[in-house]
Amino acid sequence: MNLLGNCMSGLDFKKITGAILIAALAVMVIGIIGDMLVVPKKHKAATMTFAAKAPAAPTAVEQAVPVATRLAAADSGAGKKIAAKCKSCHDLSATKKVQIGPPLWDIVQAGKGSVGGFKYSSAMSGMGGKWSYEDLDAFLASPKSFLKGTKMTFAGIKDARDRANLIAYLRSLSAAPKPLP
Ligand code: HEC
Repeated sequence: MNLLGNCMSGLDFKKITGAILIAALAVMVIGIIGDMLVVPKKHKAATMTFAAKAPAAPTAVEQAVPVATRLAAADSGAGKKIAAKCKSCHDLSATKKVQIGPPLWDIVQAGKGSVGGFKYSSAMSGMGGKWSYEDLDAFLASPKSFLKGTKMTFAGIKDARDRANLIAYLRSLSAAPKPLP
């Protein structure tokens, strides 16, 4: 009797262990399938939120809006963030240190290529005239197209609104910012 009882419970034990293993396997499989289904969903949701936050790229019409109009609606705070790209070469502070590029403090309406102690390309030192808002806008859109032979190895800022924001920020880098156009 006792022996039989032990034998039975041994059998039950095997059955139970088997059942637990199958259950665990099922949970794993469901988990894996679940991950496969959920991860792309989460990813899509994140992309959508990002797309909703980032403003759409400007249309051709918006790109062609004159800088004076764009400046009226510009956000110099947003421009400050863009100016981080300039800092690898330019000092933006009132200290006006010459770095890879000339200092940009008070650059709006300043003489082009006129910072003493900076060795400009002959293209830039020979330009003459002042950095008007229009010229800054055109130069920053594509330095090389605006001034063939410039030493400024910077691709440019294609987005017209980003450029207006940046120029609004550059304008603020002055003890007495120049009037808006
Ligand atoms: C890779 C380095 C580099 C980066 C990045 C760069 N510049 Fe320049 N920049 C230069 C150099 C070098 C010159 C001088 C060009 C020449 O002599 O042809 C220059 C010249 C200029 C000038 C003319 C200054 C003057 O005294 O007439 C302006 C304005 C200017 N940069 C603005 C910017 C702005 C704004 C940014 C950021 C969006 C920027 N640059 C990013 C290197 C750089």
